[in-house]
Amino acid sequence: MAEENCHRGVQGHCGRGCLKPIGVFDSGVGGLSILKALRSQLPAEDFVYLADAGFAPYGERGDDYVIERTRVVVDRLLRAHQVKALVIACNTATAAAVHLVRAQYPGLPLVGVEPALKPAVALSKTRRIGVIGTRGTLTSAKVRTLHDSLKDQADFVFVPCDGLADAIQNDDAGQITQLSARYMQALGSFGGEEGQIDTLVLGCTHYPFAQHYLAAHAGENVKMIETGEPVARQTRRLLEAAGLLKAEGEGSVTLLTTGSQQALEAAARRWLGI
Ligand code: DGL
Repeated sequence: MAEENCHRGVQGHCGRGCLKPIGVFDSGVGGLSILKALRSQLPAEDFVYLADAGFAPYGERGDDYVIERTRVVVDRLLRAHQVKALVIACNTATAAAVHLVRAQYPGLPLVGVEPALKPAVALSKTRRIGVIGTRGTLTSAKVRTLHDSLKDQADFVFVPCDGLADAIQNDDAGQITQLSARYMQALGSFGGEEGQIDTLVLGCTHYPFAQHYLAAHAGENVKMIETGEPVARQTRRLLEAAGLLKAEGEGSVTLLTTGSQQALEAAARRWLGI
């Protein structure tokens, strides 16, 4: 098999492992929303995407469970696939475990995702911002700290959306419709007037795939913020800094799951065209 060019543009390995893949994981299909941005920002890279769907959802299960699943999945990506970098494409796993992964693998380029509260402050004109995510994420110390640092700049309305990620994972349109209506109502009034929410933070990587259902209750002008782009940019920065960026050749995606392979491939076809 012909060897590809690495970041130095020469054939073969640079000796720093830039031809190894990037590991991306989520409890299920949600992280595909992050993978989409990663592929567009890093088109030459190879990705191994692991959906821990056999153990999903994470959001209502508590920290111990999420920490243990993160440990198992990260271990598998490192040992079996020798990933050169890791993207935790799951807000719940990031909130519960990113600090532990960082402590265990200090040399590993590691990117997590967190609800985009800061970008929302920059965008909102009414200074009233809705934040939806899993119960695990929204009650985490990480999000509480982030909120504390921004609370004098805007009013945030947090609504944990139990069951919504699971409904998206199962592609259950009836359930997504019902839960979207319930949680959007719980957020209150949307619009551009004072006291109305004009910006909605999608604090779970599954939710961009339900954007259309959520938008039906928010009105046209409400801005919805997801985290794919900044995560992809940060991944690129870390790879560059470590001399691990693969800048040439055509990238690939390997899809792995602890659940249904067929369901994951169908979701990747539908949402990413792969
Ligand atoms: N997609 C995940 C997140 O961003 C978690 C969904 C779940 O398993 O509850 O939080």
